[in-house]
Amino acid sequence: MAHDNPSGDKSAKLWGGRFQEPTDDLVARLNNSLSFDQRMWRHDIRASIAHVTMLGEQGIIPSSEAAQIAAELRAIERDIQSGAASFDQEAEDIHSALESLLTQRIGPVAGKLHSARSRNDQVATDFRLYTIDAIDHILGLVRSFQHCLVDIADGETETVLPGCTHLQHGQPVVLAHHLLAYFWMMERDHERLVQARHRTNALPLGAGALAGTTFPIDRQRVADLLGFASVIPNSLDAVSDRDFVLDTLSAASILMMHCSRLAEDIIVWNTPEFAFVALHDSVATGSSIMPQKKNPDVAELARGKAGRVFGDLMTMLTVMKGLPLSYNKDMQEDKEALFDAVDTVSAILPAFERLLRTAIFRRDRMLAATTGDFSTATDLADYLVRQGMPFRAAHEVVGRIVLHCVNAGIGLESLDSEALAGLAGEFAGCPADITSVAASVGGRTAFGGTAPATVREQITLARGVMSS
Ligand code: ARG
Repeated sequence: MAHDNPSGDKSAKLWGGRFQEPTDDLVARLNNSLSFDQRMWRHDIRASIAHVTMLGEQGIIPSSEAAQIAAELRAIERDIQSGAASFDQEAEDIHSALESLLTQRIGPVAGKLHSARSRNDQVATDFRLYTIDAIDHILGLVRSFQHCLVDIADGETETVLPGCTHLQHGQPVVLAHHLLAYFWMMERDHERLVQARHRTNALPLGAGALAGTTFPIDRQRVADLLGFASVIPNSLDAVSDRDFVLDTLSAASILMMHCSRLAEDIIVWNTPEFAFVALHDSVATGSSIMPQKKNPDVAELARGKAGRVFGDLMTMLTVMKGLPLSYNKDMQEDKEALFDAVDTVSAILPAFERLLRTAIFRRDRMLAATTGDFSTATDLADYLVRQGMPFRAAHEVVGRIVLHCVNAGIGLESLDSEALAGLAGEFAGCPADITSVAASVGGRTAFGGTAPATVREQITLARGVMSS
């Protein structure tokens, strides 16, 4: 009899009947997933309650037994929550551990729970439920980070700093504009996570091991009980699909790539050469040997851990790429990869947000960096264009003015309109502030540009996106 556990193992297996010898300890340890998949215990109980409710309603098992099993599962949930019950750590996985707890408490009737179900559709269901919760958590963190960026931007619409390409000064921008660029990246991250959630939100349960079931189940009812938006129409796909893990890991990877880029900005800005930002003591760390050090470890970890999340994505792409249909044990690797990514993102976003909220942005240093950097050269060329000169010619003329300044060891702002007119007659009568960075940013009023007034509109737009 299967429930006599003839293999003689210490812990009851869900599949002992066909075996005469116990599992080798090394193999049991390798096979075991309880140490990590117990994180899904609430989801497993929720899915089992929905399943057994449906079994009772459909008359697949007597409704009194279904009610008894559901009630006991609820009691187990309470007891695990309070610490009054715990998992047998020898159990193979969370599904076995919970079933064996149920069996201990209500006897053989517990075995009816697994009617019309396999661990293959069970684990896929649990993991989707977990992933939806995890995505919702990360969506909240992303929104909070976006609010932080907008809040800071709100106070920095007049703060001018060099805008760069190739890490060389290009054109001045305002700090709010720079920070809002990250807001829009994160808005896309938010969208990607919502899309991943949508594709996760489909019910695999009822697929059985792979081929469906002979029992008259009602999958739509289970989907409704669990809140799934749809039912997966193909049983093979239901048990073998881990696209939802890949979608989530890929959204998390792109999100971390964005964090890493912002981290790099902060790290560079925090160097003494730049000193565009000063970090609060509470988010910095010191050195064990160099007493003067104050290091931007949070930003470095955001940058470093991006690599770790990419690794989780690569793990799962590689695990899945050669798998024949349908379920294969390889797929058990999905849990640690996703858990690691969820934990990493959940640790980085709030800490990084704290770093930003407590940072002091050095407006004086940012402005000073735009002096003598030729970053208004495009504005001079644009002026000539407005006087009727073709842009190519204007580019050439201003290029020569820049060369003149480089040779003279001065910046463009040292040239007043008279000096400019001396170098190129078309500048005669040009505005006095033509080389000023304030005029440069202030003029960029076309939609999406860095003019303070335009950035104010961008802030309104950003706030609107978040509240819609
Ligand atoms: N722990 C397993 C996993 O995470 C559960 C499914 C086991 N199914 C099986 N046929 N062995 O994938």
